[in-house]
Amino acid sequence: MTQKINRRDFVVTGAAAGISLAIPAKSHAEAPAVITRSAAAPLVISSGNGNRVKNGGTQTAVEKAFSMVTSGADVLDAVVAGVNIVELDPLDNSVGYGGLPNADGVVQLDSCVMHGPKKRAGGVAAIEGVRTPASVAKEVANQTDHHLLVGKGAQEFARAMGFTIEADLNTEKSRQLWLEWKRRTDPLHYLDPKTRADALQRVRMDMVAEGLIDREHVYGTINCDAINSKGEICGVTTTSGLAWKIPGRVGDSPILGAGLYVDNDVGAAGSTGRGEANLYNLSSYVIVENMKKGMHPKDAMIDACKRIVANTIEKRLLNSRGLPNFDMSFYALDKQGRYAGVALYDAGSYAICNENGAQTFKMEPVFPGHSTD
Ligand code: GLY
Repeated sequence: MTQKINRRDFVVTGAAAGISLAIPAKSHAEAPAVITRSAAAPLVISSGNGNRVKNGGTQTAVEKAFSMVTSGADVLDAVVAGVNIVELDPLDNSVGYGGLPNADGVVQLDSCVMHGPKKRAGGVAAIEGVRTPASVAKEVANQTDHHLLVGKGAQEFARAMGFTIEADLNTEKSRQLWLEWKRRTDPLHYLDPKTRADALQRVRMDMVAEGLIDREHVYGTINCDAINSKGEICGVTTTSGLAWKIPGRVGDSPILGAGLYVDNDVGAAGSTGRGEANLYNLSSYVIVENMKKGMHPKDAMIDACKRIVANTIEKRLLNSRGLPNFDMSFYALDKQGRYAGVALYDAGSYAICNENGAQTFKMEPVFPGHSTD
């Protein structure tokens, strides 16, 4: 089922029929089209990198979070401990230590957390020198009256909370990749801003095509959400943001309602992909509100994708089909333990962990092919 769907067909057919247009995906394991689970069976869901690296230990992020959730740990503590594995692992260059740096070669990290039952939240943005921004975001939620600390203030807060501040979070690999980017883009720095933005995007995509960086790591991020047997729901999103971004650029990951939203009565949703598109649409909030109206997580996410399509009109952001030329992925679970991972295109994966262990599925794409097609 790989028929081409263009923007016009999608908008007209989707609006008229009022139904999901998701194309069933082949999965790493077989992704069920609709997943229904008994109420409050413990479950963890994350982006695909939550079931990839172990940082030298024995568990991936979803396995760690699930084992903690089922041992009675606080659900937020569990998902943060899970994503800490990815943040600390130098092999994942989308998150935390070794995350791809900004245009100046400095690793700046973003994260937010939400605690469903306590209705508390915290975030940090453009924080430097701390390998685990998700843990700092959790301290913002636990220790302060605020929801978001940025830059130097976030770093000073982390220092006061006892976090180690390091001069440089680059690994040899992330530094080499930045040097390669710098080498390719330096001659372009004096072009007019539009040409330069196009050129910078082209260089990123060339580096993906050449296999130097993973397509998912251009906006690499991990989102992880969980529900325990009491129906308590928490979530976390953490990232090094857009590779080689303008210093100070903050994406969707640390912004409540964009990179993450949790409503303990409804469910949780989070994102990876082009933060700017998500910031414009506050998709995680939209997804949770859709689920509140009774939508299955999958349909709730397809609707959020439709909004992104409808609000993406600038030519520079459209591909030859007139659709967004970037990737955007969402992950969600609801109070009944139903879950899904939906992406604009046929790219990326999501992971879950439940009583059957950890599994990775291909995302359910709204459109066939890739963002660049
Ligand atoms: N979604 C990660 C970012 O855009 O920063």
